[in-house]
Amino acid sequence: MELVELGKSGVMVPVMGTGTMLWTPGGSISEKTIMETYGACIDNGLNFFDTAEIYGNGSSERVLGKCIKQDGRPVLIATKFAPPSPMNPLTQKRSTVSKDSPKALLEALNDSLRRLGVDRIDLYQIHMPPSKNTIADYMDVMAEAVRAGKVRSVGVCNFNEIQIREAHSALAKHGIPLASAMVGYNLLRRWPETNGTFAACKELRVSVIPYAPLAEGVLTGKYRAKGKRVPLSYKAALYFGHLDITKDRQDSKSLIQRILSKPLELDGKRLEPLFLAMDAIAAAHGKTLAQVAINWLLTNEDVNVIPIPGMKNIRQVNDNLGALSWKLTKEERNRIDIAEMESRG
Ligand SMILES: NC(=O)c1ccc[n+]([C@@H]2O[C@H](COP(=O)([O-])OP(=O)(O)OC[C@H]3O[C@@H](n4cnc5c(N)ncnc54)[C@H](OP(=O)(O)O)[C@@H]3O)[C@@H](O)[C@H]2O)c1
Repeated sequence: MELVELGKSGVMVPVMGTGTMLWTPGGSISEKTIMETYGACIDNGLNFFDTAEIYGNGSSERVLGKCIKQDGRPVLIATKFAPPSPMNPLTQKRSTVSKDSPKALLEALNDSLRRLGVDRIDLYQIHMPPSKNTIADYMDVMAEAVRAGKVRSVGVCNFNEIQIREAHSALAKHGIPLASAMVGYNLLRRWPETNGTFAACKELRVSVIPYAPLAEGVLTGKYRAKGKRVPLSYKAALYFGHLDITKDRQDSKSLIQRILSKPLELDGKRLEPLFLAMDAIAAAHGKTLAQVAINWLLTNEDVNVIPIPGMKNIRQVNDNLGALSWKLTKEERNRIDIAEMESRG
């Protein structure tokens, strides 16, 4: 497995990780299937897993901890701390001092370490920007966690350009590089390329970790089949992104116009030009659409992109593995870009 450095942190990870947001036993996947999927990942060198304290209210970390213990082979773990918020049930469980303070991070970190059954986290990320202007305060506490040996590298998620720069300079005061910025990014969700996120990551040498790299499975093309519908939970996530509450898209449409329109991901007719271009490229390489979509992320030359597709079974692991060890040509990337513009209209 080819390895890459997370930013300038010195931490090396496989070029592709595994997203475990839905690894919550009792949800859409059983514990047995999670264990099998985990084993298939590790067998193939995919030993970098992304989780978060809030996934399944701690259960994704818990089941990952169980897999790590039972399997015994070395892994790299990325997890996330969600700043105090009434929306986060784990906040309510924390001690009084932690309820609304950056120190909550240290308590949350200890809880994550316990659930995962590990001594340190390879990449500890702040899941979303804190509500008040306290990014620097949180990064000071992150630095404390690094100095304590509990965290190897630090990342941010859902931060905009200004917030990425602020986190970077706050950590730099402690001599710690910002390793990664996680943002929603895929073939149909291109705005990090133009809203300053990529520019900041390139300049500061921060790795980009795209979430929803397959647009919740839409980019695999499986919903093109007659009668196959995008599940409601994915639809909700896609609609929420489409509303652009955080204004990351710099969309010229008003909120009302966005509410009344369909996300591109759910508009089969508009997606077809893109799928047809991907079909031709996939056929030329003997690849699947999922493999083309992930390879498109991996072959970005501007920034170091480390996709973490969610994988729910051995078949998906094997399919997504086929995205590695080959490269779309520049000309093929251009063809995909043109088709994507046509789909966007
Ligand atoms: N930081 C954040 O705010 C944030 C937000 C969202 C996600 N994340 C992270 O990013 C990871 C990935 O994002 P995501 O899971 O939302 O979206 P995704 O990777 O775009 O989609 C994953 C889903 O697509 C389907 N799939 C995957 N590979 C497939 C294949 N080869 N063929 C057919 N279907 C396939 C599976 O669902 P089905 O089998 O149900 O179709 C899988 O759960 C998450 O697991 C999580 O770790 C972070």
